[in-house]
Amino acid sequence: MEELREYQAILEERINKLNFPEQPENLYDPLRYFLKLGGKRTRPTLTMLGCSLFGVPGIKAINAALAVELFHNFTLIHDDIMDEAPLRRGKETVHEKWNTNIGILSGDVLFVEAYDHLSHHESDVLPKLLKIFSRTAKEVCEGQQMDMDFEGLDEVSIDEYIEMIRLKTSVLLGAALEMGATVAKANEKETQAIYDFGVNIGLAFQMQDDLLDLYADPDKFGKQVGGDILAKKKTYLLLKAQELATPDQLESLDRAMNQLEGDERINKVKTIFDEIGIKSHAEKVKNTYYKKALSNIDSINVPEENKSALLGLAKFLMERDH
Ligand code: IPE
Ligand code: IPE
Ligand code: MG
Ligand code: MG
Ligand code: MG
Repeated sequence: MEELREYQAILEERINKLNFPEQPENLYDPLRYFLKLGGKRTRPTLTMLGCSLFGVPGIKAINAALAVELFHNFTLIHDDIMDEAPLRRGKETVHEKWNTNIGILSGDVLFVEAYDHLSHHESDVLPKLLKIFSRTAKEVCEGQQMDMDFEGLDEVSIDEYIEMIRLKTSVLLGAALEMGATVAKANEKETQAIYDFGVNIGLAFQMQDDLLDLYADPDKFGKQVGGDILAKKKTYLLLKAQELATPDQLESLDRAMNQLEGDERINKVKTIFDEIGIKSHAEKVKNTYYKKALSNIDSINVPEENKSALLGLAKFLMERDH
């Protein structure tokens, strides 16, 4: 746990010290604003821990870690435009505070800034890091496109949902760890195992995100509660409810999703979810992925104490309330 706090403190300091030009202020002010809103800094912490897992100090992976966090923040700015989200980390989203074009362009420059940080790595690992990073960035775009396509589809299977969240969310957690392991020059088999750990934690993490979207305490969550229902997202909650609903419940659910608006829709859908007991179904599946992740890390042959910070972080992510 000590290691976790140390890395998080280093990351916070480095993120606070990022220096963006003063002008044009409509390009750089949103970045100063967004990066100071906080966030859990999960992914860059994973990069540092993915390095120290293999006996190399996590600080050696700091530039890859920063690249991952900058990339993540870029995806959030654009995601909030796509999801028409008003709130992020308890504050106004960039496109609400400024406008959509500013959100697009400041997001773009953040993506470039991410590559800039990555390029500081030594040439013995840089080609590998670039390859992981570029592959993952494309996958995230693919997942985000699927997420948006699904909004307008009536029939989405649970397998398609899992593939969508694997791409939009989980591969980035996997790649964050893989990049740390790459800096540490871990062997191929163990690099794959830590990547798989990250992907499985990532699937559980997105399921927790979907659960929080409806069930979180609005004072702690920092995002709009019920946003997924308003945006007609095909979450596990909705897909499983459609599968388990009686014909009457299914009709009410369809009516609520298509004919009600705002809080009325959220409340009605939530009532049907609760009748079906959907929350515990989602939690069960989330735990299945968590357990898979634990078996991935179990297969890695390093001293057990090297794993403890990662296991602590994974446990925190499963129980998080924001
Ligand atoms: C939000 O990620 C986006 C998802 C993939 C669910 P986080 O919950 O890690 O966001 P921050 O960085 O802590 O705000
Ligand atoms: C976001 O998924 C995934 C990415 C940003 C790539 P969500 O749309 O569920 O994330 P939140 O809930 O807005 O953070
Ligand atoms: Mg969103
Ligand atoms: Mg989204
Ligand atoms: Mg969400």
